[in-house]
Amino acid sequence: MLCEAFRENDIFLGGSSMGQGLRKAARYYIGHHMRQQPNPDHFNLEGASDLNEDLKCNPVENSFYVCDIGVVMSQFWQWRKHFPRVEPFYAVKCNPDPLIIKTLAILGTNFDCASRTEFRLVQDICKDLPRNPDIIYANPCKSRVHLIEAVCKGIRKVTFDNAAEIIKCAEISKKIQLVLRIITDDRGSQCRLSTKFGAPRQKWRPLLATAKKYGLDVVGVSFHVGSGCRDAERYQSALKDAKEIFEMAKTEFGFNMTLLDIGGGFPGETHSTWNPAAITAEDEPVEDDSDDEGDDLIEGTEMTDTPSEPDQESEEERFMFFTEIADRVRPMIDEMFPEESGVRIIAEPGRYFVAAYATLVTSVVSCRDHAVDSTFVPPSIDDKEAAKQLEALKRNADKTVVAKRGVIFNEEGNPMYGHIMEEMADYSKMFAKQQLAQQESDVYNDPLDLYKEGFNTAVDLLGPPEEDQKSKTLHSVEGMNKQLVTDGTGKGSDSHILTFAAAGEAAVNGIVLQAVADSDPLQDNYSYYINDGCYGGLNNLVFDHATVRARHLRIDETSFEKVEVNDNSSIGLRRLKKSYSSNNMLKSYSSSNMLMSQGQTESENTLYASTIFGPTCDSIDVIARSVLLPKLKVGDWLYFQNMGAYTSAAASTFNGFAPSEKFHVCSIMPTYFAKLAAGPECDDISLEEEEKKDSR
Ligand SMILES: Cc1ncc(COP(=O)(O)O)c(C=O)c1O
Repeated sequence: MLCEAFRENDIFLGGSSMGQGLRKAARYYIGHHMRQQPNPDHFNLEGASDLNEDLKCNPVENSFYVCDIGVVMSQFWQWRKHFPRVEPFYAVKCNPDPLIIKTLAILGTNFDCASRTEFRLVQDICKDLPRNPDIIYANPCKSRVHLIEAVCKGIRKVTFDNAAEIIKCAEISKKIQLVLRIITDDRGSQCRLSTKFGAPRQKWRPLLATAKKYGLDVVGVSFHVGSGCRDAERYQSALKDAKEIFEMAKTEFGFNMTLLDIGGGFPGETHSTWNPAAITAEDEPVEDDSDDEGDDLIEGTEMTDTPSEPDQESEEERFMFFTEIADRVRPMIDEMFPEESGVRIIAEPGRYFVAAYATLVTSVVSCRDHAVDSTFVPPSIDDKEAAKQLEALKRNADKTVVAKRGVIFNEEGNPMYGHIMEEMADYSKMFAKQQLAQQESDVYNDPLDLYKEGFNTAVDLLGPPEEDQKSKTLHSVEGMNKQLVTDGTGKGSDSHILTFAAAGEAAVNGIVLQAVADSDPLQDNYSYYINDGCYGGLNNLVFDHATVRARHLRIDETSFEKVEVNDNSSIGLRRLKKSYSSNNMLKSYSSSNMLMSQGQTESENTLYASTIFGPTCDSIDVIARSVLLPKLKVGDWLYFQNMGAYTSAAASTFNGFAPSEKFHVCSIMPTYFAKLAAGPECDDISLEEEEKKDSR
């Protein structure tokens, strides 16, 4: 069934949303797919004859996601391994990509829907499958129209957290099974939800009483610890509360609760490698694609974003990953809701399944160089002249006010006179204020020359890092393997290079560090404008409180002529010919010489403090400031990993920019599908091997 679903969706087998597989997929999509698109119709219009002679077609620059369904599959396998008793109901809101829904439904997942569009989508996609997935309508505040349709479509389980919702449900169907959503302590989570939903302790009893009064059954309890929760302890108190309600509901109201819904919130930025073939390939360098010649199909998803080394950070400080959270929560559930209790345990994971599923690949459409000519001295404005100019402006403004009123007046006796003079005085004050604000912003916008201020390095500005910061910031930047935090003494070979530097790996681990290059004044050298932004796929910066890390994708454009495609793969999936792979087509920065010593001349390996803007005209559309990138040019590509959750789902077309295209790939070989679908219990991989893999 999976093969069939993939064939229907024209999945590219062998790509991945990360590592070598990503580069192959991106290379294929850019070099073959996009280049093969027919010219748009406007090339046939009369005006096209005025295009330059050598411009025969559009430059290839559409932004796109590489969506790796293999990630979703391996996440599912991992879920079953670590949470065997917990049935996942995938939260469709997170990414309603039909391929995700179909794959998860085939693998046996159920769904959490929050609107009729979501449950229509799930039911439509799954209509031909042998299994009709279960749906929980997990929106505590529903529209009546949506709820009526849900009931008609067989959906019974609905969450609620207020009395009006109970009455609404009772008026629609007595067959509705209510699930009480309770408030949780969601501090520390990426997106807190308890500020909007969840019944507080004082309301539990009255709500159960209301449900009883209206003749509805309350079948269980649900909670959500906040989206992107990295702390397993949050589940402890929520589970305790749920247990208390189960007992209260039974003893005081006669409800026999049978459903516990532990919600979502599980992180998904990293994922384990399910594929047994990848487990044995221990020493394969992840970021080095120099040996990928002829390596057509990537076996297994790659774990490029590994958790930081445990010894670098103390246990308490470290953000937890899914496996750690699940391993802590599982015994809590078993203790409070043992298997013998017969309670069905479900969860509503969203980002867990799909965060690492997509990588967004964007192209640079404009570049701005911020270098200033230090020899240029602006003409000075003398105070008297400025005062004259201001006076003239004020007089003009006064005249305008008078002209607007249409009243001719003189000083004597005109009743309007005093009034107008007052109005003009106010206007002058406002005008003066505006001038002041303008001056202030001019000062603010003037380039800060930190050298003149006596700041030579970021250490001078920010102070030397604390002892504990040094070890924390030992993340590498795009293949750099040097320590990025210096001791501020200026000694040692690395001390002049970087102080606090951006680390994508750190962002992946939930830690945000600002890039500060100490060899330049504290301002960005270049600004880049890319073709997706905060109003599109990168809306997660705004709505999901996400941080992203831009990486440069290097492509040797000339190599694309060699691309060939073979359509005769065994299961009808497209596959690249060996001759397609080429070392120099596309390379990542993998060598340590990315970090250049101070004083070295500009080379393509030099990094610059850069700002990345989205394509719209809104100044809020900023993706990153002060990040280190090589000098880019129009047509270069930047990519962002972990872009599967709360990204394309909320992308708008503001300013007329279309959402990024999707290119579906699968990093897991079909030969493993059956084994994968059977789940970890049926797998012959020893636990030891699994652990070895997890620690890589
Ligand atoms: C009710 C409910 N369930 C599940 C989810 C999914 O959460 P996550 O993506 O963090 O797993 C959300 C997210 O907002 C939610 O509101």
